[in-house]
Parts: sequence; C-alpha cells; structure tokens
Amino acid sequence: STIHVITPTYSRPVQKAELTRLANTLLHVPNLHWILVEDSQRRTTLVTHLLRDMGLNYTHLNVETPRNYKIRGDTRDPRIPRGTIQRNLALRWLRETFNINSSQPGIVYFADDDNTYSLELFEEMRSTKKVSVWPVAFVGGLRYESPKVNTLGKVYGWKTVFDPHRPFAIDMAGFAVNLRLILSKPQAYFKLRGVKGGYQESSLLKELVTLGDLEPKAANCTKVLVWHTRTEKPVLVNEGKKGFTDSNVEI
Ligand code: UGA
Ligand code: MN
Repeated sequence: STIHVITPTYSRPVQKAELTRLANTLLHVPNLHWILVEDSQRRTTLVTHLLRDMGLNYTHLNVETPRNYKIRGDTRDPRIPRGTIQRNLALRWLRETFNINSSQPGIVYFADDDNTYSLELFEEMRSTKKVSVWPVAFVGGLRYESPKVNTLGKVYGWKTVFDPHRPFAIDMAGFAVNLRLILSKPQAYFKLRGVKGGYQESSLLKELVTLGDLEPKAANCTKVLVWHTRTEKPVLVNEGKKGFTDSNVEI
C-alpha cells in the first residue's frame, strides 16, 4: 500500500532545512506519496523547487491560515491550532482524488515538518486496517507518551499526564489511518473552532474509530519510533533592519 504523508509547512528561516531533512527521510521509504501543504497565499518558489529537485512522489497544495487563527508574535496560544486547515485540505484532496471502491490501498499519516521519524515507523504503519497507534517521544512534558495496551494487545487508555481523559490522548505523530476509512467517513475533519489544547487529534479520531478499534504498533507500543523534536529559532540579530546578507540567497 501507498503511504500518503500529509505535512503542513509555513515560511520561516528554518523551513528549507526542515523540509530537506524530512525529504531525506522520506526518500528511504518505498511507495510513498508526500502531500505537502503550504500555509501561504500561493505556492512558493522555495517549496516548488525543493519538491521538483528531491525526486519524491508528491502533491503540492497551499491554503493560508486565516489571520485570526495565526500565532501572534512569539506567544503561543494553545487554542490556536497549527497546520489544521492545511491537514484538512489534504484530507479533502484525498477524497476528491481517490474512489473508495477502485483506489489502491493506502495509509494516511500526518507528519509535521520538524519531527524526527525512524524508517521502521513507516513499515509499522503500512499494515494499518483502521487506525494504528504508537508512542511519541518528547510530548506532554514526558520522555514519551504512549497508548496503554493490555495483555490481549488492546488499547484501553493513555499513559499521559496532561489530560489523560481525552478520548484520544495522542499527538499528531502517534497514529496512522487507513485511506479507505478516510474515504468512507467523508465528514471527518480536524475541528478548527472550539477545540481545547490537546483535543485536535481527538476531534478527527472520534469521527473515525472507538478506542477498541485501535491497533497498537511498535511492539505493542513498547518502542519509540518518532520524536516530537522542535527546532530552535535561529538568532539573526546581526542582520539588522535592512538585512546584512544577500537576500537573493535562499536559505
Ligand atoms: C504540536 C503537535 O505536534 C502538532 O501536530 C499540532 O498541530 C500543534 O502542536 C498545535 O498546536 O496545533 P508543535 O511542534 O507545537 O506541535 O507545532 P509546529 O510543529 O510548530 O506546527 C505543526 C505543523 O504545522 C508543522 O508542520 C508546521 O510547519 C505547521 N504550521 C505551523 C503551519 O503550517 N502554519 C503555522 O502557522 C504554524
Ligand atoms: Mn512541531
């Protein structure tokens, strides 16, 4: 089956570095389709050229997050979701592109541009029947968060400190969905309005499955195969107001 990797991305000094690193990972994964969705008014030349030159199978989309949802200054409001409108556009694209009866088997995975992904993760998710889940490192103030799995191999809860009673207390990087399920539930999207911090993933997953449906991967959720890394913002103070370096040089 094809793995459709959905990545929202936005312009900032480290964007090209993030996308280069992620593309270098994805290049090692067989049968992969990268849906890169820019948070911008237009598709930028930076991303267009990067996709053209990396040699991946890809689809390049864009949609700008409305201003009232954007991060204001450096303060992060957890109620303002990041990449949500972009992920929803990709879900719509999949539904418009693939037919539930005739389409090739597929898996959908939401991969943010700054995380770190092992190659093993992609092979684990490939056998997803409905929704598969696994631990994610560096989220929720822990070394890792994980689904709780019983001796029968069923998920019965969440090993998290932050709000463990969420329906699906799992980070975006911690699950994959069978394409057929996405196509069979055409109303299922990430909710944009009125979602508390940490509830974005639940807003989609509760439309698709119940807890009992979840398929634990990564050795019954005992292995960490993805890390929620976040890149430090580079210090560019010496650029000054007008910019010191050549602004025609793409970074
Ligand atoms: C956490 C989760 O891991 C994300 O999946 C979730 O979207 C996010 O919180 C959230 O608060 O909504 P975090 O590292 O804080 O992740 O978020 P980012 O990595 O900064 O953003 C998630 C994705 O959205 C990235 O691929 C990023 O490039 C993209 N993004 C971010 C945009 O497209 N536009 C933005 O304005 C900000
Ligand atoms: Mn991130």
